[in-house]
Amino acid sequence: MAIVVIRQDKKIELWKNALQKANSAINVYSYIEDHPKDEITMAVIWKHPKGSLAGYPNLKCIASAGAGVDYIFEDETRPKNIPITRIVDPFLASDMSEHVLAVILAHLKNLNAYKLDQVANSWAPKDYLRIKDVTVGILGLGELGALTATDLTTFGFKVQGWSRSKKNIEGVKTFTGGNEQQEFLKTTDVLVCLLPLTPATEGILNKELMSQLPKNAFVINVARGGHLVDADLIELLDAEHLSGACLDVYHTEPLPKSYPFWNHKKVHMTPHYASVSDTNSVIPQLIENYYKIGSGEKLQNLVDADKGY
Ligand code: GLV
Repeated sequence: MAIVVIRQDKKIELWKNALQKANSAINVYSYIEDHPKDEITMAVIWKHPKGSLAGYPNLKCIASAGAGVDYIFEDETRPKNIPITRIVDPFLASDMSEHVLAVILAHLKNLNAYKLDQVANSWAPKDYLRIKDVTVGILGLGELGALTATDLTTFGFKVQGWSRSKKNIEGVKTFTGGNEQQEFLKTTDVLVCLLPLTPATEGILNKELMSQLPKNAFVINVARGGHLVDADLIELLDAEHLSGACLDVYHTEPLPKSYPFWNHKKVHMTPHYASVSDTNSVIPQLIENYYKIGSGEKLQNLVDADKGY
């Protein structure tokens, strides 16, 4: 039994060392070093190169190092019928909630516009919004969406949420299904996308959906770039239907330097860093699952392959 860490960013050694430090009895390898492929029972991965999950004859669990697993289903060469797990972690949820709160407050108080004014030496007071007058609508009420919704209510926002299956969250008005989506959108001033990316949600933030938001609505995408139809967003911003957008995720990451978002005054960007797995916090659940593989117990935080999340 052993673990292989597969990721293409600079954090591969960090993850390998953190797993090894958490339990020195486990053999942990990075996929770029020589490693005994038949010993590997668990792959801890993040945006792995397509094809790199093949060739492990005793693999029993593909563990995403983040909350999202869309990139795993996009790899047609992945071994099928192997359980996939994802991270469910209190910091992953609270970091997201804090990020969304920060973005919404910056929008209400025009902080991004003032930064641009400052760079242009321009003194230009603007009307601001009050929390009590703003309805935040959250698309997706999973672990991250539900906590974000609840936290926003404690700050005094009116909060509503839309999800595939009906959810009950105290203080949050919930909507479900296609019929209720129209009512949800019509009454949402700030739309936050926290849906999982699946074939059913790909491109959901399109012109048809976003034009149902009231004039001057603001859009926040902290889920996946694939949810957004970029050209539709730009069209609605330029037509002054939407007042702005804040994006953390993109179709291509890092975002190519020539992309129109970089220089659009109404698009505010962060580099997919709204909420990032903290190794100290998430490694215990990975190690627990590693031992569960050995004892044949049911793994925690299993992904439903039919739903894709
Ligand atoms: C981050 O995007 C994650 O899925 O954890």
